[in-house]
Amino acid sequence: MPIIVAVAHQKGGVGKSTLAANLAAYYTVNGSKSAVVDADIQGSLTNLVETYGENNIYGSINLVPRNEYDRFEDLLERDEDILFIDTPPYLSTDLDEIFLISDYVLVPTKISPLDMLAIEATLDLLVDVRKKKPSLVVGIVINLVNQSEGFLQKIKDYLKERGRGIEVHDTVIIKRTEFQRSFLTGSIFETKDKKAQKEIATLAEEIITNLEKERDIVEPEVEAPTTETAGTATTEAVEA
Ligand SMILES: Nc1ncnc2c1ncn2[C@@H]1O[C@H](COP(=O)(O)OP(=O)(O)OP(=O)(O)O)[C@@H](O)[C@H]1O
Ligand SMILES: [Mg+2]
Repeated sequence: MPIIVAVAHQKGGVGKSTLAANLAAYYTVNGSKSAVVDADIQGSLTNLVETYGENNIYGSINLVPRNEYDRFEDLLERDEDILFIDTPPYLSTDLDEIFLISDYVLVPTKISPLDMLAIEATLDLLVDVRKKKPSLVVGIVINLVNQSEGFLQKIKDYLKERGRGIEVHDTVIIKRTEFQRSFLTGSIFETKDKKAQKEIATLAEEIITNLEKERDIVEPEVEAPTTETAGTATTEAVEA
């Protein structure tokens, strides 16, 4: 049974698809069986992979399109080590179902005050789902950070206070051209941007660490990242 990580936020444009695809690619390039699952029948990832890829493979991104499975529960039967579910930007009953089969929900957010307001509905829904499924682990990750944003720590503190006990990832994802451009060739691992790769690597490791903290799980057989991709992305971002 795969580890299932849903990437969710009811707001559009926060980086759900970008992070889901690149995290799945990270595991693939490190030797695990991994895929990104498109939960939206008209999903942009499916369009991208179908347009530029071959046999649901695009660079190191493996895709499970929405028409390849019937119920979300069916995903539990798949033979990958880890799946990242890319969810659409609205609250629906699908989200409830997705969260109930997930081990982890990653909530990407940008850091403007409006984004801080927008995250509340998703967090409320997650608090409700955790009443039904207390083992569900949730982490907020700050994405699209401008290097000059000195108030990053304040936003982290705010999220920790307002986040209903939900973990905020140490790793933050910087706004980088290569994250945008990577979709021309596949994932960030098809580019030369080692800093972007390092951010995805540390985020991927934090997800596994948080899951292990919560309960005893079998870790996917992922080789340690190379020294070039290892390390913490956090320090760099906070100091920037
Ligand atoms: N860290 C980043 N650096 C630069 N560009 C980014 C980063 N993260 C996401 N983007 C870009 O921001 C835009 C929105 O990202 P993405 O499509 O992943 O968001 P989304 O939450 O999946 O949106 P939707 O809810 O509409 O599906 C895209 O153009 C993407 O390339
Ligand atoms: Mg998307």
